[in-house]
Amino acid sequence: MADHAILSGKRVLLVIAGGIAAYKCLDLIRRLRERGVSVRAVLTAAGARFVTPLSVQALTENTVYQDLWSLTDESEMGHIQLSRAADLVVVAPATADLLARMAAGMADDLAATVLLATDKPVLVAPAMNVRMWLHPATQANMELLERRGVLRVGPNDGVMACNEFGPGRMAEPMEIIDAIAAHFAADKSTAHFAADKSAAPATADAAPKPLAGKRAIVTSGPTHEPIDPVRYIANRSSGKQGHAIAKALAQLGAAVTLVSGPTRLADPPGCTVVAIETAREMLAACEAALPADIAVCAAAVADWRVAGLSDRKLKKDGGGPPTLALTENPDILATLSQAGERRPALVVGFAAETGDVIAYATAKRARKGCDWIVANDVSLGTTTFGGADNTVHLIREGGVESWPTMGKDAVAARLADAIAERFRE
Ligand code: CTP
Repeated sequence: MADHAILSGKRVLLVIAGGIAAYKCLDLIRRLRERGVSVRAVLTAAGARFVTPLSVQALTENTVYQDLWSLTDESEMGHIQLSRAADLVVVAPATADLLARMAAGMADDLAATVLLATDKPVLVAPAMNVRMWLHPATQANMELLERRGVLRVGPNDGVMACNEFGPGRMAEPMEIIDAIAAHFAADKSTAHFAADKSAAPATADAAPKPLAGKRAIVTSGPTHEPIDPVRYIANRSSGKQGHAIAKALAQLGAAVTLVSGPTRLADPPGCTVVAIETAREMLAACEAALPADIAVCAAAVADWRVAGLSDRKLKKDGGGPPTLALTENPDILATLSQAGERRPALVVGFAAETGDVIAYATAKRARKGCDWIVANDVSLGTTTFGGADNTVHLIREGGVESWPTMGKDAVAARLADAIAERFRE
């Protein structure tokens, strides 16, 4: 739930672009105002076809800015000043067109100019037809923007105005408010620029880092369990979420050892990376990295390996397919959670489930003895494995927090903030 204390007194510049979801902005403005947030709005020409400037003005109780060339607007507040007289710029709905213009650095209307000129963090709530969202051009634009530090909330899955089904619905106003509140909660720790150091404000490096002096172990990626010298058992994990967490923790000042199975990802900056292949190697590398204050086990560890591994390639000998006898792998999360004196103060596991996500994950938390579980749905049809987004529930002693669908970098930044908060207590 959004925290009134965090939001009260904050200034948001809301950019409303032209999409059917623009009507939800009126509710968003109302709810922000109720929480003590002052809102100025920029309405694009297309946005003004969906909501009227008058409604926006009435709800914000502020001038609505529409025109780059308006002398009235400019004399009241120049566009550079407008772009900076806010604590956060929120783009909702963020259309495919506006995301493309942001990614290209264009300044062809007031909204794009303000977004180019701002030195403030930007949160986008994409909303568009599912095909437009999934189009490689939009995905590439979004990825580029997130790498530059732009925050994102949604889009959600659902039936769209155009009667198609899939991701593309704008996040609901309360989800956007939760994301805004999460940003301001994290702001104390400068984590809103988690995605790209080069995009961080000049002051970010000078700010004290909340996890300075803490040691963290993060596991990531799949493990490969050999069958013979040429074959192995693997899974679909890309390592994106684990790597993003390692990077986010390092950006908050932690000394991070990332123990990773085979992935196609670059090493995250500022981390010590230990490359392993099997579960047993992963466990050994984690134990070698102890003592640590924090362990986050995001790897998709193979539960079983082949017993009686052959050191020669298995051949077709006419006797039918071989039977592979399996034996259980060590559980790294459970081992770290039960490491006695060497146990990290905070152990976080992931739960990949395909149904009854929260119930299974809650049971998993108890069974493994970890402190927190980040639960996600990896059913067929979701794109959690390998995809760019994640929809997670954070399960802690005090209860369950369900987060809106976010990019894996944003999930990592929010988790790193929660970890920093836990060590602030
Ligand atoms: N994990 C681990 N070592 C293993 C298996 C899992 O460290 N041998 C960790 C994962 O990194 C994750 C958590 O345990 O943090 C849960 O993983 P998951 O695959 O969801 O659960 P399993 O232990 O495989 O349980 P189940 O098969 O019952 O779902």
